[in-house]
This record gives sequence, C-alpha cells and structure tokens, in this order.
Amino acid sequence: MLSSWLSFTKLFGGNGANGKRENSVLYAPGTQIAFDTKLVTRLKRDHQELVRIYLMVTRQVQDRQFQKIKPTMESFVHEFNAHVLMEYTKLYVFLDYSFKNDDSTHDLIVQFRKEMNLIGKAVRNFYGKWKETNLGLDNIEPFTAELQAIGEVLVKRIKTEEENLYEIYQSAPGLLMINGHKTGAVDANLEAPLFEFGRQNNPQSLKSLRKPRYSS
Ligand SMILES: [Fe+2]
Repeated sequence: MLSSWLSFTKLFGGNGANGKRENSVLYAPGTQIAFDTKLVTRLKRDHQELVRIYLMVTRQVQDRQFQKIKPTMESFVHEFNAHVLMEYTKLYVFLDYSFKNDDSTHDLIVQFRKEMNLIGKAVRNFYGKWKETNLGLDNIEPFTAELQAIGEVLVKRIKTEEENLYEIYQSAPGLLMINGHKTGAVDANLEAPLFEFGRQNNPQSLKSLRKPRYSS
C-alpha cells in the first residue's frame, strides 16, 4: 500500500525528474468535472457565513427590530441558495460520478442530497410564508419558533456535512487512483483545481463515516 501511495504522491504532486513540481487535474470518471482542492474550504466558509447571518436574525428578533428582520432573512436565503447551488453543481455531481460503482457510498451521497432537498424546501417555505407578513409583537412568537426549528436543522446539517459528506469528497481522489482512474493534463493558464496529496485524502477514513441523521 505504501508504494501505491508513494507513486500516487509523485503523480499528483511530487517533484518530477527535472525538479519541478508536477500536478494533474483529476476528473470524475466519464466527465470533465474536476476535483477542486479549494471547494471544501469555500463551502465551510459559506457555512460560517450562513450561521453569522442566522445569528443576526435571531438578535434582531430578540431586540424586536422588526424592520430589519426580513431584509436579513432575504440575505440568508440568498446565501443559502448560492451555497446549495455550489454543492449541487460542484460537489454532488463529482461524487455522483466518482462513486457510481460503490453502492454503499453512493447511497450515502444520495441520502445526503435528498435530505438537503428537504431542508431547502423547508427554508424556502419558511421564507415564502413570512416575507409578505408584517412582523410585530402579535406574530413574533410563531415566527421565532419556526426560525429556531430552521436553525436547529441547519446546525445539524452543517455538522454532518463537514464531518461526513466533505470527508467523502476529500477522499475521492485517493479512491479513484487506487481504482486505476486516470488524470487529465494541467493547463497552466487556467486556475485549475490541482489535487495535492494530503492526509485527509486517505481512503481509509471512509470506513469511519456514518450515515447522516435527520429523521429523528
Ligand atoms: Fe453545506
């Protein structure tokens, strides 16, 4: 196994015979969807921003700043939709093609995506329900209860995504290489998502993954 990893490292980020660093782009099998080394960092940053905006809404509710709540909610939904779109177009598509021959991992990915659909629907329903309603002392309690429910689901989701789903993504290059998947060439003029070997790419980490829990 060690020799495999060493050749893997050399292929994907080691120093070549001329002493220069060699890199390759890894595409999901049968696609031109590239592995993006910066994607998980970007998605985690989105999560922090979503939590920040959500907490801003809760503070505005506590301070009874009724006029500010809906614009902040609008920012939250905007950020949420952009984040979900990024996950669908870059993360899920890559994982879908990369693990289509691995039933258990593929099932886990499908489950994550289905749950995200439900959460997205809940967020949109919540926003749709309240965006045309004037908030005030008479209705802030039911609004707050629904806001808290959204927050609880969101925090759980962020935790399981970062601990499980993103870990699968980080492990994908290692697994694909072990399965003999080939890489593409790097175009130095593009900001290509270059794969760099790292300990988070150890495919063994997949064994510790658990199914997400949102049904309870
Ligand atoms: Fe996310």
